[in-house]
Amino acid sequence: MRLGWPVQIAGTGLGLPSRVVTNAEFERRLDTSHEWIVQRTGICERRFAEPHESTLTLATAAAREALADARLTADQIDLIICATITPDHLLPSTACELQAALGCRWIPAYDMAAACSGFVWGLILAAQHIVTRTAQNVLLIGAETLSRITDMEDRATAVLFGDGAAAAVLQPSGDPQRQILAVQLGADGGRGMLIHVPAGGSKLAASPETVASRAHYMKMQGREVYKFAVTKMQEVIQQTAEDAGVSVHDVAIIVPHQSNLRIIESACERAGVPLHKVIVNIDRYGNTSAASVPIALHEARCDGRLRRGDLVMLVAFGAGLTWGSVLLRY
Ligand SMILES: CC(C)(COP(=O)(O)OP(=O)(O)OC[C@H]1O[C@@H](n2cnc3c(N)ncnc32)[C@H](O)[C@@H]1OP(=O)(O)O)[C@@H](O)C(=O)NCCC(=O)NCCS
Repeated sequence: MRLGWPVQIAGTGLGLPSRVVTNAEFERRLDTSHEWIVQRTGICERRFAEPHESTLTLATAAAREALADARLTADQIDLIICATITPDHLLPSTACELQAALGCRWIPAYDMAAACSGFVWGLILAAQHIVTRTAQNVLLIGAETLSRITDMEDRATAVLFGDGAAAAVLQPSGDPQRQILAVQLGADGGRGMLIHVPAGGSKLAASPETVASRAHYMKMQGREVYKFAVTKMQEVIQQTAEDAGVSVHDVAIIVPHQSNLRIIESACERAGVPLHKVIVNIDRYGNTSAASVPIALHEARCDGRLRRGDLVMLVAFGAGLTWGSVLLRY
């Protein structure tokens, strides 16, 4: 069903750690090679947070840039949604900490944990707040420091992930053309253990044993996730276009979650999307989970690939397992 939500992206911003980690660094420490990593994933380098950086500091930088881009001050924001699976603390939420860091009013602020689908889900939530008039100016952030939950001794995951943040300001759209046309949201909890962190939650609280057994790091069954990702991404792209009553060929730009170049290429080809319409930056950032779609969106806005009036589709999948999409006229 075509939605026609009058919501627009009024500004975007970026918050990246300055430390660049090349594949060569992994070559020195692990049984891997630059060639393997590039061939299997498309990743050449990623960013890792320095000790003084965290999800909050990256999110704050991204949020400040997005506010400036939207020509808003912090006190004009009505709601903050922070998509993250690597919050600074289990509590309070990073969104609440961000509210204080930015100097916002006592507005509602919450975190949203849908892993790599987080920003796309957050965009749908933000739009629903705007449409139901529970907020006017919404600050949405995707921010992660995955390096803090990645096992740097596990070559199958260590080379894949990176840190970063990006933000967007969402507002009611004055232009009837600028709207959200269709969305998809879904989850398959039955396959949740394909990507999980065993310890640190209520089931297996932190103890010397959990630390010694490296149970606070992310575990992943890569091959199974790969198959899920290609199939689901293709389905979601096609279904979202169909729901909006447009052809996949009408979509000008696809901004996919950057998990693996082969996943992106294979899903887009199967869905009938030519690769020149697909925003790819995984070579420079790796997989930054909830930050990946907004980083790519911000770069596409800045380099002029995203033009006013374009049909743009954001599409993501991730741990949970979760998936989601937003088709909007920009
Ligand atoms: C992880 C991933 C890159 C592995 O690529 P793959 O082509 O599926 O490789 P496989 O898992 O089949 O492993 C092939 C071999 O490479 C090895 N390998 C894994 N990581 C390696 C590395 N960094 N360097 C060298 N060899 C590596 C494996 O040990 C395996 O060796 P074996 O055949 O002797 O057992 C791929 O499965 C993937 O991207 N999956 C999805 C991950 C993802 O997107 N997760 C986040 C979801 S949001």
